Amino acid sequence: MTEIGEVGAERADEVLAVIHASFADRPALDPPATALDETSRSVADALTAGGGLLAVHDGEPVGTLLFADHGPLLGVRRVGVLPAARRHGVASLLAERAEAVARERGYRGLVLEARAELPRTVAFWEGHGYVQVGRDGPKLRMERLLPVTVTLPKPEDTQAAGRRLGALLRAGDLVILSGDLGAGKTTFTQGLGDGLGVRGPVTSPTFVIARVHPSLNDGPALVHVDAYRLGDAAELDDLDLDTDLDLAVTVVEWGSGLAESLAGDRLEIVLHRAADDVRTLRLTALGARWTDTDLSRLG
Ligand SMILES: Nc1ncnc2c1ncn2[C@@H]1O[C@H](COP(=O)(O)OP(=O)(O)O)[C@@H](O)[C@H]1O
Ligand SMILES: [Mg+2]
Repeated sequence: MTEIGEVGAERADEVLAVIHASFADRPALDPPATALDETSRSVADALTAGGGLLAVHDGEPVGTLLFADHGPLLGVRRVGVLPAARRHGVASLLAERAEAVARERGYRGLVLEARAELPRTVAFWEGHGYVQVGRDGPKLRMERLLPVTVTLPKPEDTQAAGRRLGALLRAGDLVILSGDLGAGKTTFTQGLGDGLGVRGPVTSPTFVIARVHPSLNDGPALVHVDAYRLGDAAELDDLDLDTDLDLAVTVVEWGSGLAESLAGDRLEIVLHRAADDVRTLRLTALGARWTDTDLSRLG
């Protein structure tokens, strides 16, 4: 049984021991990782400032990480699991708990640095929803923005959420909408067009695949795409959307699994209608474009 708990400076020696033991067998990197330079004092200072996590298995510390404040994001560093305890999901438990802590503390998301020379580490964080947002030599900056969930009791709520988002969008932004038929994708896009200030009416574009709504002021146009009948990403490519992408806001209904290749920075929105007709919206923001935008107030 592995338990993960938040710890402070009183556990600095245990945290330090796990950091040293888990980083000691890593391949030599250039520039070298500095984890082995940590001391009881430096770890205690870090724990006092931001706290950390300690994973304990059968009473023995086996994994750890340290937190640090990075403005809107919670920084995560020194993620280590003892060699003997690897491949048992301890790192995943740490990653999940870090996300819960970020949520509890009111952060917008999490940020960490991963080394490009360690592709399995990079893949691990990608598997937990982190995307690369920057690079400094071999050091990759990876972020995970926390998904935002909104309950939508009435059609007007779906429109209002779209309107609030539309007001935050600018040229180059890509929104991928998914959800079953009737979930509210077009309703949401109507609100979004309103918030953006484009000429309507926004309707279901099923028979035209893509429709352009010009701005009513000096803002970007809205390109509204219905990818329902597109077979694959190549057919989406044929629409040449990328030529307009930088100048417009692009919203793709049924875009999941197809439109991701259009832009690394994007919003993925899933509209869901449960059996009891309760409707929800779940928004996931990907990429540096969204780090400094508060998307938590769409409801
Ligand atoms: N939050 C909501 N509560 C109840 N009905 C909704 C809500 N949002 C949308 N609807 C209704 O659901 C129907 C289908 O919406 P639509 O936007 O066309 O779905 P989609 O584009 O996903 O197929 C419309 O009649 C719309 O008014
Ligand atoms: Mg529709």
